[in-house]
Amino acid sequence: MSGGPKTVPASQRVAKPLLRALGGERVAPPPIWLMRQAGRYLAEYRAMRTQAGSFMALCLDPALAAEVTLQPIRRFEFDAAILFSDILMVPHGLGQRVGFEDGIGPQLDALADGGALSRLSLAPLTTRLAPVYRAIELVRRELPETVALIGFAGAPWTVASYMIEGGPSEDYAKAKAWMTRDAAAFERLIALLVEATTMHLCAQAAAGAEALQLFDSWAGALAEPERRRWCLAPAAEIVARVKRRFPEVRIILFPRGAGSLYRDYAAVPGVDALSLDSTVELDWARDELQGKVALQGNLDPKLLVAGGSAMRAAVARILDRLADGRFVFNLGHGILPETPVAHVAALVAQVRAHRR
Ligand code: CP3
Repeated sequence: MSGGPKTVPASQRVAKPLLRALGGERVAPPPIWLMRQAGRYLAEYRAMRTQAGSFMALCLDPALAAEVTLQPIRRFEFDAAILFSDILMVPHGLGQRVGFEDGIGPQLDALADGGALSRLSLAPLTTRLAPVYRAIELVRRELPETVALIGFAGAPWTVASYMIEGGPSEDYAKAKAWMTRDAAAFERLIALLVEATTMHLCAQAAAGAEALQLFDSWAGALAEPERRRWCLAPAAEIVARVKRRFPEVRIILFPRGAGSLYRDYAAVPGVDALSLDSTVELDWARDELQGKVALQGNLDPKLLVAGGSAMRAAVARILDRLADGRFVFNLGHGILPETPVAHVAALVAQVRAHRR
């Protein structure tokens, strides 16, 4: 036998399981990755976070961001890496001051009213965020060839809520007041964010992201007419514009708490997959959504903290309902910092052992 590994021609290489599932194939066992899979539940993340000094510094150092992105891949062999970054990079790129304080979360210089929009600018966005795109290039070089790279952004409503509130909020009172009292200015802010988000996602695709997820974490805070106008319509616009430039890139929408409006999201032209929050009823999702798009989700992150038989039963139920169709295993929201690493390993093993 002549030595050396055979090089497989590109045409014969097996496509990445995540990209096959997002493209509409049933993949068995289903691919798995977890929202916030790089984070404080990992000791190696906490060490890098300390080394970087601040969360922003970690996000804006390409080598450190790439390293943190790869940490959960090395440990758990997930089917996808999600770029380590944050949805608040876009306000930073637009010129708003963004910081993260331990124990409090994000802190922004809140936009007081429509007048504050004149201090934001699209022009420097992709330059200010260049370290993010560089991190994507670095990750792509290191990833095993079966692992896909996901880029992401926050959806306009969720990002606007932080920009207006200045940080996390219980009731979105200021953002909702803007929306009703000065609808024209609110519309300008959302339009600016549609533009900025499209630019940011396209730059990530150009740098090597193969799939893109749009996080609308607070979609559930709005009543239906507002949810259609400020969540669904901007998402559809962003999908259309990104797909026009990057027809091959797979797009996942995560309108958390959207309820039956998930059906309208499934009908958005160009959307490949929907990420289901933990409240979505699985039989309904299979019957109403899975024929149109791939589904991702939806284990309650609290059950990953609990582990044991409660977790195993919930995982089995999700696989029973959704794994016969196009499906990607995930949580219904981000992994919690108190999650035991052993429970994540047990989850991956259970999903990988699934046969039918
Ligand atoms: O999924 C991943 O692993 C990729 C990285 C990622 C982070 N944030 C890292 C992060 C992603 C995709 C996000 C998205 C994000 N950021 C969302 C949408 C998803 C969701 O969870 O709803 C939102 C709302 C934010 C804004 C944000 N960033 C908040 C509210 C906080 C503080 C909350 C907390 O857990 O402390 C952050 C900080 C943040 N983003 C951390 C991480 C790992 C923790 C920061 C730290 O290390 O101290």
